[in-house]
Amino acid sequence: MRPHRLLPLLPRHDGGRSALTCRFKCGDACAHEAPNTSGNAYLGDVVADALSRRTMLRTGAVVTLAAAAGGIAVTSGTDVAAAAPEPPHGGHGGHGGHGGHGGTADPDAAKGLRFRPVGPNTVDAVVVPEGYAQSVVIRWGDPILRGAPAFDQARQTAAAQAGQFGYNNDFLHLFDLPGERGRQVLVANHEYTDEILMFPGYDAANPTREQVEIAWAAHGLSVVVVEEERHSGRLYPVNRHGLNRRLHTRTAFRLTGPAAGSPLLRTKADPTGTKVLGTLNNCAGGTTPWGTVLSGEENFNQYFGNAASVTDPVTAERLKRYGIAGAASERKWERFDDRFDLAKEPNEVNRFGWIVELDPFDPDSTPRKHTALGRFKHEAAQPRLTEDGRPVVYMGDDERFDYMYKFVASKAMRHGTGRAVREHNLSLLDEGTLYVARLTGDSPAAEFDGNGKLPSDGEFDGSGEWIKLADGTTSFVEGMTAEEVYLFTRMAADKAGATKMDRPEDVEPSPRNGRVYVALTNNTNRGKAGSAGADEANPRNNNKHGHVLELAESFDDPAADRFAWRLFLVAGDPSDPATYFAGFPKDDVSPISCPDNVAFDPHGNLWISTDGAPGTLGTHDALFGVAVKGEKRGQVRQFLSVPKGAETCGPIVQDQRVLVAVQHPGETDGSTYENPSSRWPDGGRRIPRPSVVVVWRKDGRDIGV
Ligand code: FEO
Ligand code: CA
Ligand code: CA
Repeated sequence: MRPHRLLPLLPRHDGGRSALTCRFKCGDACAHEAPNTSGNAYLGDVVADALSRRTMLRTGAVVTLAAAAGGIAVTSGTDVAAAAPEPPHGGHGGHGGHGGHGGTADPDAAKGLRFRPVGPNTVDAVVVPEGYAQSVVIRWGDPILRGAPAFDQARQTAAAQAGQFGYNNDFLHLFDLPGERGRQVLVANHEYTDEILMFPGYDAANPTREQVEIAWAAHGLSVVVVEEERHSGRLYPVNRHGLNRRLHTRTAFRLTGPAAGSPLLRTKADPTGTKVLGTLNNCAGGTTPWGTVLSGEENFNQYFGNAASVTDPVTAERLKRYGIAGAASERKWERFDDRFDLAKEPNEVNRFGWIVELDPFDPDSTPRKHTALGRFKHEAAQPRLTEDGRPVVYMGDDERFDYMYKFVASKAMRHGTGRAVREHNLSLLDEGTLYVARLTGDSPAAEFDGNGKLPSDGEFDGSGEWIKLADGTTSFVEGMTAEEVYLFTRMAADKAGATKMDRPEDVEPSPRNGRVYVALTNNTNRGKAGSAGADEANPRNNNKHGHVLELAESFDDPAADRFAWRLFLVAGDPSDPATYFAGFPKDDVSPISCPDNVAFDPHGNLWISTDGAPGTLGTHDALFGVAVKGEKRGQVRQFLSVPKGAETCGPIVQDQRVLVAVQHPGETDGSTYENPSSRWPDGGRRIPRPSVVVVWRKDGRDIGV
């Protein structure tokens, strides 16, 4: 047996993922205590208070709220569907497709999705519906920069990797490329590396410098121009295009916003506290209406060693709240670069955990890390504009019992293409107010015993408020400066009384109806001794399958400080009584578990990708489409499934194309480079390679309808 097989005893994993995925993706987060041990009240505690407040609101403030919410009674019998009138179309950024239905009301949206669903399966391939075709667009190791060699699994080098597509693609976005017909700009995140699948005989206790440097180069983001094949949906990378770019662990980034330059961000290599080398664990992301990408630095905690040697109690408490613990890190990077050693460079870790903004149209630009958007395990960030043009960015902190956030910018976006306009728009996320969400249920707390049964009013729903945390140099959190709020946002949110959620991943406003959809992946610690129990917004103890929440801002104003919410889906096998599909008959929906990323098609349907179905339903992860309005609201249909051990990421649904990032194929327990559990996509003796896949309809018509 190889030495690495004897290494860490794999802990128990009950979050749906394989032990190998847990180890490399999130640093075994679910095997450790959830970092939120704050005494912060959970929803069940505040319901009684809210009920009495509601009575009060009925007489006075409710008028404001009901009026503000466009006629909905936010405070009783909440109806999120009625809360937000259909906004004028085309005014938001987000995931619109190119061409086709970009900006008109679409009668098809109410008809639901009409492809024949792919059944739950364990086929080691991408499985698509009848009448659809697929191909791989680009895979880990494909050269994209001038001079980069073709991928050779036996001859990997850091220099080669720095010019090749990175590992474990996650977030995806396609931008139109003006002036180059039939071409688009693909931006992809590369969340993490799985060294056991990448390198022969990987010895986890003693990685080599070359392996570590390859991993540094395989993290980050890629920008690559792709070309459409005529008369099909196929896309090909355009190697050596001038916009192609790799950003990795040694690329220069700039910290901006109110906390930039803080003494807690200064290091030996950067006494200014503004210049960071690299970005880590870039999970999902979003796009801005001014044509940039936002990317979330998620499980950055796992890359830093020697937290155990930190003796200062204040620093130790902060590290603990971010899940940074132990001696050696999983990948042992601290042996090769002191900045990953907390004993030698205590502030480097503070320079990760941000939202990164990248301008893919300026290959020489220095990407930014936005301190105004707070520091936590950022899954993603997606803006929506207010009527007067200010971006409001929705965000989730992907950790059990952590929170949902939004940032409301104080300046409006400008239109135009000049450099001054561009600079102005790139500064929009530096000034504004950071908020965290508190949710209140409208049914008595006694109705939530953790079994997931619908309350007597027939709906998991209620109202909520956005609580201010900081704005510039002003802190709204007692006992914390604004700088501390930005750097240790989780602790500020604890103090503010935010609602503990079941792993908020994507939090995205629909460009069609303005409502915000929140993927709450799972939380098997819900209801365990010492942890928060079930409440109306997180109604199941031992929540294996997760749920999707739908949020409507008061008066459909993204800058509002109040909202209505309800659960859209309570995921799982529909035969399980503790599931809910927006009231749609459960005999006509696909099983779905562990919702992670969301996207919207040009018709306004919601698309959901999953991370964890193999461990919960025993089937491969998948992509699902579901109507959010009309008779078919809640009719979840599985569109595709991904190969063995893989997660479905980064969905893009254009009018005639679907793209998914197939992340960590072959990442199952016991899988290795020598004996991987999947050899997708290349087959033969080749190792599995995370890849982007495009799917289209053979008859050339629109996806799904
Ligand atoms: Fe990287 Fe929250 O998944
Ligand atoms: Ca209710
Ligand atoms: Ca994710």
